[in-house]
Amino acid sequence: MKKETVIVLDFGGQYNQLIARRVRECNVYCEVKPYTVSLDEIKDLEPKGIIFTGGPNSVYDETSPRYEKEIFELGIPILGICYGAQVIAHTLGGVVKTAPVSEYGYTEVEINAADVIFEGVSEKTVCWMSHTDYIETAPEGFKVTARTSVCPVAAMACPERNLYATQFHPEVMHTAEGMKMLSNFVYKVCGCCGDWKMDSFVETTIQNLRKRIGEGKVLCALSGGVDSSVAAVLLSKAVGRQLTCVFVDHGLLRKNEGDEVEAVFGSNGSYELNFIRVNAQQRYYDKLKGVTEPEEKRKIIGAEFIRVFEEEAKKIGAVDYLVQGTIYPDVIESGLGKSAVIKSHHNVGGLPDVVDFKEIIEPLRMLFKDEVRKAGLELGIPEHLVFRQPFPGPGLGIRIIGEVTEEKVKIVQEADFIYREEIAKAGLDKSLGQYFAALTNMRSVGVMGDFRTYDYAVALRAVNTSDFMTADAAQLPWEVLNKVTNRIVNEVNGVNRVVYDCTGKPPGTIEFE
Ligand code: XMP
Repeated sequence: MKKETVIVLDFGGQYNQLIARRVRECNVYCEVKPYTVSLDEIKDLEPKGIIFTGGPNSVYDETSPRYEKEIFELGIPILGICYGAQVIAHTLGGVVKTAPVSEYGYTEVEINAADVIFEGVSEKTVCWMSHTDYIETAPEGFKVTARTSVCPVAAMACPERNLYATQFHPEVMHTAEGMKMLSNFVYKVCGCCGDWKMDSFVETTIQNLRKRIGEGKVLCALSGGVDSSVAAVLLSKAVGRQLTCVFVDHGLLRKNEGDEVEAVFGSNGSYELNFIRVNAQQRYYDKLKGVTEPEEKRKIIGAEFIRVFEEEAKKIGAVDYLVQGTIYPDVIESGLGKSAVIKSHHNVGGLPDVVDFKEIIEPLRMLFKDEVRKAGLELGIPEHLVFRQPFPGPGLGIRIIGEVTEEKVKIVQEADFIYREEIAKAGLDKSLGQYFAALTNMRSVGVMGDFRTYDYAVALRAVNTSDFMTADAAQLPWEVLNKVTNRIVNEVNGVNRVVYDCTGKPPGTIEFE
């Protein structure tokens, strides 16, 4: 049976992924498509509903994104949000104008007509606005269903044609009853029944993988991160020992991490697969000797990973499939234009060139990160792996400012271990976006007992973030910082000072290099 699908038609808004995630939170499968997708492609997908996203344009610009009018004749329910609402109004003969004042931020909206989208929603409710233009007059056949002090048409509806629109953003959490509105759209307007559930995803994916792979051999690069772990376990459940996982320990992992990965996936672990751990620590330390420039370090670590993997792949010989842990945000983002390279990210993108294989398998291609985690739990993967905070591919190599040495790796591993332990004890580990210790290349004078010391400073970082593109420095309780500082200077040799990084992103980045 075909899975029910809602399409998010992307008009360039910053919340396009978020809308899709919210729809999936309603247990309805949702895909993001660019506004350039053809009408035929849309028809082929047989969506239960379509959501037009916001966007930075004005419908009056000649070049601004639109969609052909025929989309409104398909009989498929449509919800337009912000710019998407204006596209509907403009295309169907309503009036869109520059608002006398822009509305930005929390805004009170008054629901002033009975409407299925607002069923169960309070008459006055808070929503999130972000617009310059607004709909002044709704097209013929539409009723105005909500207003604000600025917007005469904060929402409109034409139930006869299944067309709905809101000037505000129901998908962001600042709109208090936004989830109710989206759920009304997918269930009450589109008639979805909610068949997107993680247990059935896991089950059907395993069955499909088994069918696709047959007797074939599969190779997977395992990093210990949540994506590659979930991908590996899916494959292991599907084809067992036809799968080989290669885990490269580059010596730049957190304390005990290599052993933890081995404990889960190695011969004493609970999965059926072939596990190879490559202890390449010394190779990396040799390559990184004397290198201080961040981008050069990143490139060396990435290139060495490919080389180590290539050597292992040669030993294994030809395989049929190579597994990649690509997830949905990567798929959506790779469809967009190129932005400036701030940091060259380490990923497994170079692997296809060095492995002798026939096809790539990407079992997580359609999942958001939170869904990958749900799938991980469904598969019985230990929570410490499923909820592991993000860890950059180049590892501690970019958390040691300047030259990387074995001794410095040890220092940062110990300091980071203490920091993580205390954060967990304080019950903050689940609420912070990311936190870690880094080793600065600054040495300074201190006093320990009656002696002068001249040692390194460790920097502590903790951020709150929802998307890792922007972040705020977390306001950690002073007692926690104090405790961590005392423990680090007392327990870690070579450190006599601890500093806390108060910088947001921008202007900083989350990592130091
Ligand atoms: P920045 O430092 O750019 O980091 O603010 C944003 C997020 O990305 C992670 N990060 C990486 N992840 N390979 C990765 O897989 C990398 O090379 C890499 N560099 C940074 C970082 O930990 C943060 O979560």
